[in-house]
Amino acid sequence: MLKQKHLLGLEGYPAEDIQTIIDTAFNFREVLERPIKKVPSLQGVTIVNLFFENSTRTRISFELAQKRLSADTVNFSASSSSLKKGESFKDTAQNIEAMKIDAVVMRHPTPGAAKHLTEFIDAIIINAGDGTHEHPTQAILDMMSLHEKFGRLRGLKIGIIGDIVHSRVALSNIYGLTSMGAEVTICGPPNLIPSFLQDLNVNYNDNLDEVIDWADALNVLRIQRERMGIGLVPSNREYRATFGITQERLNKHEKEIIIMHPGPMNRGVEIDGFVADSNQAIILDQVLNGVASRMAILYLLCGGKANVGEN
Ligand code: CP
Repeated sequence: MLKQKHLLGLEGYPAEDIQTIIDTAFNFREVLERPIKKVPSLQGVTIVNLFFENSTRTRISFELAQKRLSADTVNFSASSSSLKKGESFKDTAQNIEAMKIDAVVMRHPTPGAAKHLTEFIDAIIINAGDGTHEHPTQAILDMMSLHEKFGRLRGLKIGIIGDIVHSRVALSNIYGLTSMGAEVTICGPPNLIPSFLQDLNVNYNDNLDEVIDWADALNVLRIQRERMGIGLVPSNREYRATFGITQERLNKHEKEIIIMHPGPMNRGVEIDGFVADSNQAIILDQVLNGVASRMAILYLLCGGKANVGEN
């Protein structure tokens, strides 16, 4: 169904497979509107959610997606596991796989951890965020949300605003959107822009007002203070004044721009609460589309047998 066994990242991921996932996700979105939001597609499939790092949306969204598809699902939390007794990552993974599982959804703080896991076990691996590297399922749900809003991705102009260098969401969005024919402009403080940006087929503009004039939608990113030493962003107030998506700033532009945010939000820093709660924002649509996108990804990777027919 998809060309690759795992979903580790969107770098080099086939555009036709991204489109297949999005098309399938729209079918599952319809399932989520039914009174009984469940289909038997992954009956008998066992999936483990391995979370070595905190998460609200991704973890719950994957677990819900698995339950909606009738898979058997188990959650692993690093903080209450035998890792605390010194067990290695490899031993942890191999012991879990010995219990006859089919797929692993993993979030880990180390870039490359999902790929590393493929060297230890045979199960299907889905990257739910690996450090500052990639967050492919977030980018797919973001693209689905843009597709829902605009009816297309090709030719869309998307501004990605904020802390790019620490953002796995930014990198996966850049790979996915450019592969699907959208134009991407990055905007943020120069010290939060990665030096490899010039290789990624995107524009850079540090003038947020110019980016707002240009873009169809803005994907606003959180300042990731937990991933930076002190000093990269002098103060929240200064950051908000230059790169914050405020109602006053949006009011200066005579256009209805769509506002996205992957969460968690720092209200009053990169985005004002009033903007986040406005009709321009599709942030909660992104969350709902996250369940549908993850259902599609699991279904396509784990070889769902039944279709999404009526229940
Ligand atoms: N967008 C996202 O990854 O959110 P969580 O960290 O809550 O999963």
